[in-house]
Amino acid sequence: MKVFVTGHRGYIGVHLVDLLKQAGHTVIGCDLNLFEGCEWESFTLPDQELVKDIREITPGDLDGVDCVMHLAAISNDPMGDLNPEITYSINRDASINLAKMAKQAGVERFLFSSSCSIYGKGESLDLDENARFNPVSAYAVSKIETEAGVKALADEHFSPAFLRNATAYGHSPMLRIDLVANNLLACAYTRGDIRIMSDGTPWRPLVHCKDIARAFVAFMEAPREVIHNQAVNIGANEENYQVRDVADRVKALIPSANIVYTGEVGADPRNYRVKFDLLNKLLPDFKLEYHLESGLEELYKKFVEHGFSIEDFEGDRFIRLRTLKKRLYKLEKDEAAHLV
Ligand SMILES: NC(=O)c1ccc[n+]([C@@H]2O[C@H](COP(=O)([O-])OP(=O)(O)OC[C@H]3O[C@@H](n4cnc5c(N)ncnc54)[C@H](O)[C@@H]3O)[C@@H](O)[C@H]2O)c1
Repeated sequence: MKVFVTGHRGYIGVHLVDLLKQAGHTVIGCDLNLFEGCEWESFTLPDQELVKDIREITPGDLDGVDCVMHLAAISNDPMGDLNPEITYSINRDASINLAKMAKQAGVERFLFSSSCSIYGKGESLDLDENARFNPVSAYAVSKIETEAGVKALADEHFSPAFLRNATAYGHSPMLRIDLVANNLLACAYTRGDIRIMSDGTPWRPLVHCKDIARAFVAFMEAPREVIHNQAVNIGANEENYQVRDVADRVKALIPSANIVYTGEVGADPRNYRVKFDLLNKLLPDFKLEYHLESGLEELYKKFVEHGFSIEDFEGDRFIRLRTLKKRLYKLEKDEAAHLV
């Protein structure tokens, strides 16, 4: 199949390209390369690479494509709040436009990387796909509005599906340590303590970044009627953790590290425990390869192998928000230039 992957140079995207290439698919990647220079390891490149903004994609780019996997985004809550206007422009407006273009170009399947963060401040625990949305950021709102906009385009020739991913963790050649489990492990490894900024009670569903990539492949390979216009939580019921449980798993790997509650952000407003029964029902053969212990252990070995340092932990390279702050300035300047 010919697959068009946006955000193919991101934390999840690099795993996805590798899996697709291993399975023999032809891959076109489109990425603005916002995190150029942040690579941790080399990674598999697609057959064709478009280094451009998703807002500049043209119908010709989608010629002969069977499936679009749309991951490019301003990719977390604090980054989204940095400049909500750009977040809506990229995450929502460009995503809906891309889906329209894909439909016009005759692409049959459109898989959107949504997020469990749309459940936000969970009013009750054990949220399934029908739970009320309670977004607490521009990022989460952008995911909700994109789902709605793309859902409306579905017909017998165009099948979108919405992968509502749990919070990712684990090793990737485009490592991020701004995700809770990776951050606690990196802190323990480099500083010798496990610093929890909340009170440790919020629930969070976790899933390994490579398992998210595997889910995209499974959604592409599934029969059309199974996934047509479905919004599906991606993760596993037993992989919901309170932040303090994650800290305990990190301490099991690095026993000398002490758990410290800094309390600096007070109670984290994002609190959601999620159910994944629909995923099991629709794709019974799809099982996560990782659980939190095995994913953390793999990442710990990578820290040792690479000599992950305090400079790595405190620097910009693995923290998307810090890198993006520099690059957003450039995007804003380009945008201003467009308007002149
Ligand atoms: N990482 C998680 O915990 C998580 C959880 C749920 C959902 N998601 C979603 O999965 C997707 C990928 O997440 P990730 O962790 O790999 O993020 P990432 O930040 O590592 O990767 C995003 C990629 O998109 C690219 N990009 C951003 N804006 C672009 C634009 N305008 N045009 C072209 N390329 C652009 C960036 O250069 C980057 O390579 C995102 O849509 C994110 O919202 C991630």
